[in-house]
Parts: sequence; C-alpha cells; structure tokens
Amino acid sequence: MLELMKERYSVRKFSGKEIEPEKLDKILEAGQIAPTAKNSQPQRVYAVKSLEAMERLKAGSPCLYGAPVVLVVAYEDSEVFHRGDCPEKNSGDQDASIVGTHMMLEAWALGIGSCWVNMFDEKTVREALDLPVSQHVVFLLPIGYPDMGPSARHADRKPIEETTFIV
Ligand SMILES: Cc1cc2nc3c(=O)[nH]c(=O)nc-3n(C[C@H](O)[C@H](O)[C@H](O)COP(=O)(O)O)c2cc1C
Repeated sequence: MLELMKERYSVRKFSGKEIEPEKLDKILEAGQIAPTAKNSQPQRVYAVKSLEAMERLKAGSPCLYGAPVVLVVAYEDSEVFHRGDCPEKNSGDQDASIVGTHMMLEAWALGIGSCWVNMFDEKTVREALDLPVSQHVVFLLPIGYPDMGPSARHADRKPIEETTFIV
C-alpha cells in the first residue's frame, strides 16, 4: 500500500482510452466501503460520463483536464454526524474525503489516474447535475488513463519532522 501511495501522482492529462465499466465499478465500490462517522454514509457520488452532463459540468471547473469520467463527490446534509460538543461542525467533509481517497487509490491500483479538484463553482456544478440544495459538493475527481508522468510538485514533500510528531 505504501508503495502504491508513493507512486500515485496527480494526473492532469489523460489518454483517449475509455475506462472499462468493470474498473469503474470497482472504483465506486471502493468509495462505498469507506468508513464514515457513525457509519452514516452521507456521501453521494456522481460518475459523470455522458457528453451532455460533461459539457454542463465543464462550465463549473477549469480543472476537468479532459478526463473521460469525473466523479463528483457530495454529502447529504440531513445524514451527516454532528459532534455533541461542537454542533456547528459536521462530518460531511471528512466522510466525503475518505470516500474520495479510497476511490483515488483503488483507481491507481487499476492503472487509472486522478486529480483531486476543489477549484469549482458549487452552484454551477449543482445545477449541472440537478442536485438538491441539501447536497454539498466537496470536490471533483477527474479520472482516466494517464498521459503524463508526475509533476515536480509530486516529489516535493516537507521533511516528516516538520509535519509529524511522535509525542
Ligand atoms: C484538497 C485538495 C485540493 C486540490 N485542488 C486541486 C485543483 O483544484 N486543481 C488541481 O489541478 N489540483 C488540485 N489538487 C492537487 C494538488 O495540487 C496535488 O495533490 C499536490 O500538488 C501534490 O501533488 P501530487 O498529487 O502529484 O503528489 C488538490 C489536492 C487536494 C488534496
């Protein structure tokens, strides 16, 4: 797993090859089995494939990179977990992000690249997919077969001592 995580990098140029349906199913299953707070499973994952939906989605982000499939990951407000001591915080962003991480890593294990994207206009994305206002879009994940190697940024990590502490 560590080797897979070291090898993964953000893909911003995709080959024209389509994603096989059985591989897409596995990626989506990896998201389904992700842990969520109190097992509330508030995530909503939309796999955008059709030309019509993709055209509408393009208006909402400059970072789709021509991917054949874009996973739009949202959470349903009425299903999130609220911490008792801090009711204004909810688990939606965390739940959606773990779902996304599962899908990103399963995709890479299948030879499929992705790029986590939070540069998007939520209103436009919501309208593109006709989502109810109770669903909050957290990020987009364009996925497809890579047509590029890692960017310089991929190798640029702070020394572990700067970010991680054994206390
Ligand atoms: C929360 C988050 C938001 C990001 N948003 C974008 C984005 O909008 N557009 C983009 O091209 N990359 C985006 N990225 C990708 C990061 O730039 C990338 O992960 C980082 O530079 C490290 O490179 P690597 O993934 O190749 O290791 C985002 C990553 C994360 C985790």
